[in-house]
Amino acid sequence: MKLVVALSLLVATCYGSILKQQRRFPDDFIFGAATASYQIEGAWDEDGKGENVWDHETHNNPARIKDGSNGDVAADSYHNYKRDVEMMRELGLDAYRFSISWARILPTGFANEVNPAGIAYYNNLIDEMLKYNIAPLVTIFHWDLPQTLEDLGGVLNPLFSDWFEDYARVIFENFGDRVKNFITFNEPKEYCILSLMGIGADDKNLTLSSSAVSTYLCAKNLLMGHAKAYRLYDKEFREKHGGQCGITISVNWFEPATETPEDEFAAELRRQGEWGFFAHPIFSAEGGFPKELREVLTENSSVEGYTCSPLPDFTEEEKDFVRGTADFFGVNHYTAYFVTVAKQPPGNLLANVMNSLDNFIFADDDWPKSASGWLTLAPNSIFKSLSLLRTRYNDPIFYITENGWSTNEGRDLFDDDRVQYYRASMESLLNCLDAGIKLKGYMAWSLMDNFEWMQGYTERFGIYEVDFSDPARKRTPKKSAFVYKHIIKNRYVDY
Ligand code: NOJ
Repeated sequence: MKLVVALSLLVATCYGSILKQQRRFPDDFIFGAATASYQIEGAWDEDGKGENVWDHETHNNPARIKDGSNGDVAADSYHNYKRDVEMMRELGLDAYRFSISWARILPTGFANEVNPAGIAYYNNLIDEMLKYNIAPLVTIFHWDLPQTLEDLGGVLNPLFSDWFEDYARVIFENFGDRVKNFITFNEPKEYCILSLMGIGADDKNLTLSSSAVSTYLCAKNLLMGHAKAYRLYDKEFREKHGGQCGITISVNWFEPATETPEDEFAAELRRQGEWGFFAHPIFSAEGGFPKELREVLTENSSVEGYTCSPLPDFTEEEKDFVRGTADFFGVNHYTAYFVTVAKQPPGNLLANVMNSLDNFIFADDDWPKSASGWLTLAPNSIFKSLSLLRTRYNDPIFYITENGWSTNEGRDLFDDDRVQYYRASMESLLNCLDAGIKLKGYMAWSLMDNFEWMQGYTERFGIYEVDFSDPARKRTPKKSAFVYKHIIKNRYVDY
């Protein structure tokens, strides 16, 4: 008997000390999940909502979407928001990141006509979340531009930044008393590429997408819009409401395939093309577009002896205006690549500098692959990315605003690949925290299956399944939801 007691004590002590050594997330680390309006809301023309570029494109050019589908109903969160909040509670989320549909709030895009039903929808959602202590993290623009604004040139119209500022004001005025975290733009680079592929403007792809110049112009206009919204918040709302405002940029990791200076340079260029376009003007001490990009684009842009840069300039005044306009750096991170010039002659860099489909990047064959061609599980890539950003941009506050794994459509409640991916991400987050990186929170993409842009419903990112054949859009937790719930509750990664 004594032996049994002694043995049990020994086991308990060992287990206790293992637990003590287990790396933990601090209690104030924010765990959440993310979605975006067009991808989940549905109700595309209900209660006064205006048409946006995705409504327009999916209705007029369904063939551009892999399965010819659209977001008309999507996960129908417009009618199911209470169930969505219930899912957040099931998971024990501290926060939920969602975006506001510009055309639901301002049907024509302009701020002179506010749609009360749109305001009411988001008020209901926010209030329902706050009842259960779930903090809203609001993305002001996640790609669904009102079609009326697109018809006026969209992001290429220099007035875009004023339209955006007016829209942001409506959001701050209506929701700023309860929402303490705002993100101006989601993945501006991807929006510039997508929008110039002709989303929302049938002929834009013919006239503009061949020209990298329009992508760079888009970048500058978005940056000016971001800075105007941030400065507005800072000046008129921060003191009253005491919140914060940042931006979310896509940051995948790019590593030189060899140690040759050529590959090092190609990797650096690719990183600058990935995030430097937006991070440098906002977070660097110098401001403006990154030097490497300015140089390489100028060198590659001589036409019959006349050298000019396709990058629009920032005046000194504009540089100052944009610099320092983020209280935090929102990072959407999914994957990593190796970069080598061996795959492509450097002469073509111009076309590739902001294009994630370029062909001088490749993934390691051994990394597990998701349903998306571009998404693999690369080791410790969150840590690598944040470590570099931290040294470059003077130790900012970070939130991972998206991170997730896709599977093919079809039932997959035992989503072990996704579980493996999330566990790996958690380890990488803990490495960041151990290194003293100011990482404050993490949002899984996505709370639920949704409309995956050009891939329609063929790819699923949700930790909750949505049954798109069911008129009620029933939601069911997948294994990843249970695992995430345990991580949130226990604050360590359980196996
Ligand atoms: C980033 C985008 O913000 C989101 O809308 C998209 O669904 C995910 N990546 C997955 O591709």
